Amino acid sequence: MINLAVLISGNGSNLQAILDAVDSGDLPGARVALVVSNRKDAYGMQRAFQHGAPVVYFPKLPYTNAGRPRADYDADLARIVQSFDVEWVVQAGWMHIFTDAFIRAFPNRIVNLHPALPGTFPGARGIADAFDAYRRGEIDHTGVMVHLVPDEAVDAGPVVAQEVVPILPDDTLESLETRIHAVEHRLLVSALRQLLG
Ligand code: GAR
Repeated sequence: MINLAVLISGNGSNLQAILDAVDSGDLPGARVALVVSNRKDAYGMQRAFQHGAPVVYFPKLPYTNAGRPRADYDADLARIVQSFDVEWVVQAGWMHIFTDAFIRAFPNRIVNLHPALPGTFPGARGIADAFDAYRRGEIDHTGVMVHLVPDEAVDAGPVVAQEVVPILPDDTLESLETRIHAVEHRLLVSALRQLLG
């Protein structure tokens, strides 16, 4: 079995896509060995419970309040994830930027999903920033990418898969989000299938 850890901070619809793919045999030989959330109210944790996947809630605030650096949080989380014999780490809506303290524990084994094309709109507002750029007449499409995380750069690294998503004249932010999420759910699973080979 190839053990995946899926890291989430919110709704977890991409986690759900992975769980469904595991159930349906679309990710042969893989299982979700651990779900980590850094937010207590992340709905994705309910999805994990329903699937029967182990869940760890691991917030950064106690570290921040104690004046401890990000690297301490990252090193402790890396140890927890390693204790579940995890081979691949999937950042699926994980709103925390890792330092090398985490990254070096999983060299070439961290995958990030981002709702924009390579080199565009990094950060937590990728879809909204693209929609704003569309309204300013700067772009007519955006997209989705899945990439490896080799270093501390934000939403950047060797691309595993990408797909263009056109922005339509009657799009609202919500309709664009809906289309992008649908692409994400498909692209993330196919990128993982490719990586797990
Ligand atoms: C997804 O759109 C993902 O690409 C994005 O967070 C969302 C999580 O949705 N990630 C980033 O913006 C990373 N910079 P989900 O919780 O429903 O899977």
